[in-house]
Amino acid sequence: PAGAPDKALAKKVTKVGVIGAGLMASQFALLFVRRLQVPVVITDLDQSRVDKGLEYIRGEIATLLSKGRISSDESNRLNALVSGTTDKAEFADADWVIEAVFEELGVKQDVFAEIEKHVSETAVLATNTSSLSVEQIGAKLAHPERLVGFHFFNPVAVMPLIEVVNAPATDEATLATAMGVAAKLKKTAVITRDTPGFVVNRVLAKVLGEAMHAVDTGTPFEVMNHALDRFGLPMTPFELLELVGLKVGAHVLDTHHAAFPDRFFESTNLHALAEHGRIFDRDDKGKIKGFDKTAVKIVTP
Ligand code: 3HC
Repeated sequence: PAGAPDKALAKKVTKVGVIGAGLMASQFALLFVRRLQVPVVITDLDQSRVDKGLEYIRGEIATLLSKGRISSDESNRLNALVSGTTDKAEFADADWVIEAVFEELGVKQDVFAEIEKHVSETAVLATNTSSLSVEQIGAKLAHPERLVGFHFFNPVAVMPLIEVVNAPATDEATLATAMGVAAKLKKTAVITRDTPGFVVNRVLAKVLGEAMHAVDTGTPFEVMNHALDRFGLPMTPFELLELVGLKVGAHVLDTHHAAFPDRFFESTNLHALAEHGRIFDRDDKGKIKGFDKTAVKIVTP
């Protein structure tokens, strides 16, 4: 396709560094180790976060084994390839380093400025930002040409798409490497411009924002959720907001509202829900039992 980078420029990836050990980062760390079969190192601010990420990855490997999706040899190999540390010196020989830290511009800028001190000159850097500008995220890098957006969707194991964000400074070798990595992950990659929300979140923010706006302006939460459930979506916008994280969801809506105030709503109720931490009551298997009554009290106008 027009604008596709020259595949010959793609760099070989022999070790992956993952910055952030939260749920999104842990999900894609697992995918990297499974599909690339190379060492994957995860890092976070403190060891307890790293351990939590490792626990998730090892738990998912155990589930794949118990479902017969991988052999016990494969399970052992994957467990041996994954490691966690707070020491960024471990990233010195990583050739693909991707972050999924807190969705705040200053935090991401500082993370990349810091990581650039530890990686080799040839390492490619990627950000899983949901809707921030990749160009701005790379503003403190000495070499912004090696930064690319690489945006996964939740749940990473299931959703087939990756948005590869071609920022103004991103060079062709970086773009080609990103496309090569996406192919190895067996995902469909689309190259997008570095615009707020890229392709998918721009559309999703509209859907989620309209659903929240209806609640904000008086439609009962339960009515909205029931109607959208019966409409036949895989999950309702409110369930989706919980899946992606209420804070991430609120952030995505804010980013869109700031960029296009005439087209996107910001939702005070969503911010209240993000503080509260959840919308639904669930059983211990995660199945929805109903609305969290305290949350509903917060959001019903
Ligand atoms: N991790 C790993 N695997 C998962 C999973 C998870 N969190 N959730 C579901 N799966 C797997 C299940 O194991 C199952 O696999 P199997 O058939 O091989 O055993 C398969 O997915 C189907 O799961 P279920 O039968 O339990 O559930 P559903 O059929 O209801 O599907 C769903 C679940 C795929 C999550 C579906 O509800 C869905 O597509 N929801 C919409 C998700 C979506 O839109 N995501 C995009 C969010 S936006 C985003 O992430 C961008 C960010 O920047 C905001």
